[in-house]
Amino acid sequence: MIASHPAESVAPAPAEPRRSVAFVPADSSGVARIVIDRPDDSVNAIDVKLLEDLGAAIAAAREAHPRGLVVASGKDGQFMAGADLSLLRGASQAEAEQAIRAMQRVLNELAALPFTTVAAINGPAVGGGLELALACDSRIAADAPTVRVGLTETRLGLIPAAGGTQRLPRLIGLPRALDLILAARLLSPKRALRAGVVDEVVHPAVLAQAAADHALRDRKRKPKGGASAVERAATWLAPVRALTLRQARSRTLAETKGRYPAPLAAIDAIAVGLAKGITAGLDADARAFGELAVSDTTHNLTALAMLTLRQRKAVFEGLIRPRPVANVGVVGLGFMGSGIAQAAASSGLRVRARDRDAAAVAKGISTIRDLTTDAAKKGVFERREATRIIGRITGGPDLAGFRNTDLVIEAVFEEIATKRRVIEELEQVLRTDTVIASNTSALPIAEIAQGARAPERIVGMHFFSPVHKMPLVEIVRPEAASPEAVATAVAAAAALGKTPIVVRDGAGFFTTRVLSTMIGEAFMMLAEGDSMEEIDRAMTAFGWPVGPLQLVDEVGLEVAAHAGETVAKARGIAAPTIVNALVAEGFKGKHKGGGFYRYEGRRRRPNPRVREILGAPTHPAGGDMAERLTLTFVNEAARCLDEGVLRSAAEGDLGAVLGLGFPPFLGGPFRYADAQRQHIVTSLERLAAARGDRFAPTESLRSRRPFFSL
Ligand code: NAI
Repeated sequence: MIASHPAESVAPAPAEPRRSVAFVPADSSGVARIVIDRPDDSVNAIDVKLLEDLGAAIAAAREAHPRGLVVASGKDGQFMAGADLSLLRGASQAEAEQAIRAMQRVLNELAALPFTTVAAINGPAVGGGLELALACDSRIAADAPTVRVGLTETRLGLIPAAGGTQRLPRLIGLPRALDLILAARLLSPKRALRAGVVDEVVHPAVLAQAAADHALRDRKRKPKGGASAVERAATWLAPVRALTLRQARSRTLAETKGRYPAPLAAIDAIAVGLAKGITAGLDADARAFGELAVSDTTHNLTALAMLTLRQRKAVFEGLIRPRPVANVGVVGLGFMGSGIAQAAASSGLRVRARDRDAAAVAKGISTIRDLTTDAAKKGVFERREATRIIGRITGGPDLAGFRNTDLVIEAVFEEIATKRRVIEELEQVLRTDTVIASNTSALPIAEIAQGARAPERIVGMHFFSPVHKMPLVEIVRPEAASPEAVATAVAAAAALGKTPIVVRDGAGFFTTRVLSTMIGEAFMMLAEGDSMEEIDRAMTAFGWPVGPLQLVDEVGLEVAAHAGETVAKARGIAAPTIVNALVAEGFKGKHKGGGFYRYEGRRRRPNPRVREILGAPTHPAGGDMAERLTLTFVNEAARCLDEGVLRSAAEGDLGAVLGLGFPPFLGGPFRYADAQRQHIVTSLERLAAARGDRFAPTESLRSRRPFFSL
């Protein structure tokens, strides 16, 4: 027991913590407001305190009985995010279930208020944030790029159990609701309007007024279950509904291969709710939520989400202040360069591009235009914005205009001589403080920078294809690079909305090194006698997005051969010859005459030349193919950490999942290693005894010290 200090009795009582939610009584027009503004938080993440305060504010509103009520955020450009993820860590199944039931109760009280309620959405309304808005009678959204609405819980292995699975199908109909929930889609205001999720989109300046008008004007109404008769039939007519749900289930099973239980649980909860009523639906929701919350998949997915969030700050640890970047130069406007230029312009940067001749520049600009209009069509941004984005990019066949650039990214052919020549040309026109980044996929940056006048400004910025979809950028730090150059590249990648990781320079850095090592192992398995279809199938069944041989066909055999050789040379191992042999025969990839597979329309079958070139099987094949390849990957990732290529296990997991498609439900190679340490080490030792030293588990794996403390 702590003895009380005499001074304590006269000290003023500690100030009450500021409330997260305030009730503002009705103004002269009769509209009251509930304002959500969680203190000490840049977003309104839902925690226990916020829920309590929201419950109290709703009770106050019920008591005051205004003509109408607006639910708004007190933060500029922020409506309400989902739950505070850290709450779920360490919670038991019963605790998670209780927490979601508490939130259901609060939102049910909001939905039951006897006057019209309107959500004024001024920023992201995601997960629990949209569930709050769905418990209101109407939703008005500001027409601003930061406004996004969606139920994204399945991305975390959870379901929108605080009413989302129940209220969304009732509002917009079962088919659209399934699509939004299962794909965890985020909608722009206009798309949300078209989908029926919001009722009106207005200029941000008049949002408060528009919401108040709706609160006075709109009636309390019962959602109809979709705008069209077809949608309403799918929602309310049992046989049509059963068919719609069955189709959703089989699509989901095909996509998730049974590795992700949340989408299926969401379908089940929706089914219960529509068949037996919202109370039964919410009960099913809560039980499923509790079960999912304690599953390994959810732990791993939430850990990844938290790593990604934390990385926004953590990536800058140990780095100095970056230089501001407003103007970006891109040299080489091919497949990658045009994607990079488009990403930069989409983030508000001005881009000056250069390719070899006017025709190549025109082709690049036309790709950028297509990417931008496609994105506008998909609602990533509005059409007006698309015109502005394209307007930020100019280009030509020379380096005119490059003197203004703060950062230049080169994405010319993967040839060291070409890259060195580009750097030499750049050095003649750039300001001395402009950073030069190479988007090479495997070449060591130090080799590219050899002979440069100022190697300290040269770093690697390794983007992934397709640039507009892939969230990772690997920042490669050669020894000679200045801290400013590294920090500037990191900040620029972050400004492009990407997650950067910082790795040490070397052949293949981190990502290409682990991927090439794993693909090299797949080539060995082929030579030993495994079938390519079985290898690829085993990997997709395990949870990889594509199998390794199919992947080589997709990226192109020449690119894969080059990366494989660069990595093999640096690691002192023999480079596989099969890829070059196929290239020599004209098999260069899926769109270039076929590769490991031959492609006829949508069908693909193994290329018989592969077995003919490889000859008879060399070694009895067998064993668990996916395990052998995945453990090769995990072991090489651990070696990268041991050698200091990676700064942290966290960056290794982010790089592997966001860049290479390592199965997210496992959390990344390091989290997987922590969970399965004993099994992984024993399996690698067994493989090493049977097939060679390359499988010997690395120092850090053998040490059995966990990579993560949580
Ligand atoms: P690409 O062949 O589509 O584009 C290269 C572009 O560079 C072409 O438009 C070409 O005309 C231009 N170019 C060549 N020499 C030039 C010079 N001296 N000055 C100006 N422009 C020049 O190739 P891609 O796929 O875009 O690859 C570019 C770089 O990105 C390579 O280093 C590659 O390894 C790397 N990379 C490629 C990935 C992929 O998936 N394709 C992924 C990550 C990196």
